[in-house]
Amino acid sequence: MSKPFYITTPLYYVNDEPHIGHAYTTVLADTLARYHRLFGDDVHLLTGTDEHGQKVATAAEKLGRTPQEHCDITSQKFVKVWSKLGIEYDDFIRTTEPRHTKIVQQILQQIYDAGDIYKKDYEGWYSVFEEQFFTEKDLVDGKDPISGRPVELIRETNYFFKMSKYQDWLIEHYEKNPDSIVPGFRRNEVLGFLREPLGDLCISRPKARLSWGIEIPWDSEYVTYVWFDALLNYYSATLAPPDGKSPAWPAQYHLIGKDILTTHSVYWPTMLKAAGLEPPEHILAHGWWLAKDAAKMSKSSGNVVKPLDLADVYGMDSFRYFLMRDMVVGQDANFSEENVVKRLNSDLANDLGNLLNRVTKLLDQHFGGVVPDVEWDDEDPLVELSKATTHKVKQFVEDIQIHAAIEETLQFVRAINRDITEAAPWTTVKTDKEQAGRDLARAAEGLRIAAILLAPVMPVMIPQVFERLGVEADPHRNWDDVEWGEKLAGRTAKYGDPLFPRHKKPESPEAAPKPKSESKPKKQPKPAPKADDGLISFDEFKRVDLRTAVVLAAEPIEDTDKLMQLQIDLGTEKRQLVAGIKQHYTPEQIVGKTIIVVANLQPAKIRGVKSQGMLLAVREGDNLRLLTPMDQVSPGLRVS
Ligand code: MSP
Repeated sequence: MSKPFYITTPLYYVNDEPHIGHAYTTVLADTLARYHRLFGDDVHLLTGTDEHGQKVATAAEKLGRTPQEHCDITSQKFVKVWSKLGIEYDDFIRTTEPRHTKIVQQILQQIYDAGDIYKKDYEGWYSVFEEQFFTEKDLVDGKDPISGRPVELIRETNYFFKMSKYQDWLIEHYEKNPDSIVPGFRRNEVLGFLREPLGDLCISRPKARLSWGIEIPWDSEYVTYVWFDALLNYYSATLAPPDGKSPAWPAQYHLIGKDILTTHSVYWPTMLKAAGLEPPEHILAHGWWLAKDAAKMSKSSGNVVKPLDLADVYGMDSFRYFLMRDMVVGQDANFSEENVVKRLNSDLANDLGNLLNRVTKLLDQHFGGVVPDVEWDDEDPLVELSKATTHKVKQFVEDIQIHAAIEETLQFVRAINRDITEAAPWTTVKTDKEQAGRDLARAAEGLRIAAILLAPVMPVMIPQVFERLGVEADPHRNWDDVEWGEKLAGRTAKYGDPLFPRHKKPESPEAAPKPKSESKPKKQPKPAPKADDGLISFDEFKRVDLRTAVVLAAEPIEDTDKLMQLQIDLGTEKRQLVAGIKQHYTPEQIVGKTIIVVANLQPAKIRGVKSQGMLLAVREGDNLRLLTPMDQVSPGLRVS
């Protein structure tokens, strides 16, 4: 039976330009929604824009627009970006829509009638930028603790929500429901915050100071505080969705960034409780994308990455892939274009793209593209691995560990690649075409399953993978389709230009010439080394026989800290070597990889184990990394 799965993103401020932070939360929500649709759940994804507040009114005035006209125009920026990033939302709510404002007023009135809203004189430090009051002790160096902007002391009469009344209930709720806030350490953070007495929440602003808001229904001199308004969207959207198909309250997941955790985990559930409504089932607080210098990317610090700039360069799906794979959900992650290129080259070009190219090329060359009809071997370890992979992927997605779900799938892709390398159908096809056909059909079937598992992350490219495999491009498949067995027999695979090409390392910004005023005194260039400065001749270099080799098997050597025993394929022969890589790689990580070895090194015994060669690696700090060729090449080739 299909489960309802109602999931939300924050409503983004219309005054912001969409940036990587907004894109991350929304792509995460969309990917999650697509996975759940694949599982057969009845998904409802809500996003939208947060449109009230003085900043919006001021921006509109500067442009000679009414605030509403301004919002109508600016909210479209988000609609456009989401459409380009392939976001399939079910509802886009705007806080200026009557379906929302009506509910905000109803709930305010209900809470007021119940006696949980009262009026009092208030003095506090007000930040115009954040549109929020702070107490003296909240301030950092006398400034707004969030934006670092100036604050002013304001004394005025306002309406307050009795948030403190619900403190005990809230603590109990979080104690009883360990997965109500994920990751768990964020829940502990909230519980820690709740150990201090909770104040009441100022939920009004006098119109004289802030005109662009929802009017307090019983007092036309006031509008309501933006957060009280904006948070209610999650509920108001359930009452009047555009297509009439309403999700049931409570929401299963609110996806938010860690900076808006307090509003979502303290204000919001207490507001709901006062209105007699259930709290959301889960709040997921993700981390921040940080610029290289570990600063949060934000408009005010001017280091924002515009999602579409990168999506235009690398492709929309590749950008989605990077966002989903490189951030461990819940942790901060470093953003750099170099990291994007690294990730796309390793996972998409080398692993997924390479498998697709190999399989379709060989089918095309030797079988006229047609996938042979073969019997599956019930005990085939790849079939077992496929089952285990799909099982784990589902589990990871249910725990919103999308990065882990992707990695699990890629491990499966790597295993298929490894099997193909070992089976070498490009060779066997000459002597045993049937066997080569079996190996290719098996790899194609594995790839079909991996592609379904990656479709929620890459909704445009994966249908193209299906097309290359000769199957219908529809990305909306069923969970049953991930079972091993849907034979591709008789389908015509198509070989073509790589769908996942390699990208060049981006030019480092540091290499760009600096403006004159900043340039440092020029360093004297080092004199070119003379021929006798320890240099070797070309003939000397040629004596070292460097060759490509594929790792067939790897096993840590017991009772040693560092050593691993490898079986390698040197093209014409198989060899064994011992390498000090135990602390840096697991066998799974290196089996199937092509490495570079010194092939003409005198054999040696290391801890009693024979070693016929040496692999090449680089050391950076404590890290040892193996050298591998940039593109897929055959084993045994001479490095020149
Ligand atoms: N309007 C409020 C939310 C109201 S929800 C009822 C708001 N809007 S926002 O436009 O500032 O968008 C906030 C979302 O973007 C948050 O989830 C925030 O964490 C996310 N990000 C903004 N910068 C970010 C990064 N550098 N990295 C990751 N996400 C961050 O807050």
